[in-house]
Amino acid sequence: MSQPVRIAASILSADFARLGEEVRAIDAAGADWIHVDVMDGHFVPNITIGPAVVKALRPHTAKTFDVHLMISPVDGFLDAFAEAGADIITVHPEAGPHLHRTLQRIKALGKRAGVSLNPATPAKMLDYVLEEVDLVLVMSVNPGFGGQSFITSQLRKIEAIRKSIDRLGKPIDLQVDGGIDAATAPLAIAAGANVLVAGTASFRGGAGAYAANIAGLKGA
Ligand code: DX5
Ligand code: ZN
Repeated sequence: MSQPVRIAASILSADFARLGEEVRAIDAAGADWIHVDVMDGHFVPNITIGPAVVKALRPHTAKTFDVHLMISPVDGFLDAFAEAGADIITVHPEAGPHLHRTLQRIKALGKRAGVSLNPATPAKMLDYVLEEVDLVLVMSVNPGFGGQSFITSQLRKIEAIRKSIDRLGKPIDLQVDGGIDAATAPLAIAAGANVLVAGTASFRGGAGAYAANIAGLKGA
């Protein structure tokens, strides 16, 4: 099943002192989704933003808020991010004891549910939950920081998950996150990804470059 390629711009690479303006600029530049990287200094070695910032940004765009939670334990924060305006809430299987229950909670909150796999986490983590999810995120870097290099072994994982999704026949988004640029985007798409997260490649060069950055990724 072929879905259009979408760009989820990660605001991790935006100017945090002007986040509302940056979200409006990347929206106007053609980003399809706004990817929000939430880090807790525990599950990953970095701290970013919480539900209050998501809520403050919500009026700045009508585009999908794609909230990537890199926090553990995650369950206690699902309601807060839903209320703050997330449209998609993505969790890591290692971030709580009961992944299936976590996914059910996200859906009960009326949000789309995603599962994110770290580079060393196998695709088979999805075997008994794939039918419950709306999105699978394959991390092509170790989570925690922008600007890292794409780990090519993750292409095999994307290929395997694409097959499982097509076998299931549900329109589950297959997203790749980390080190996406004009060189790696075509590899990820060829492997079967249909949503590309891009931080550095979206926000490089200042606001005047954003439209060309997004167009370049879409054309890749
Ligand atoms: C890393 C985050 C990514 C990050 C990607 O933990 O999940 O979303 O922003 O940044 P780039 O595109 O610079 O690799
Ligand atoms: Zn992310």
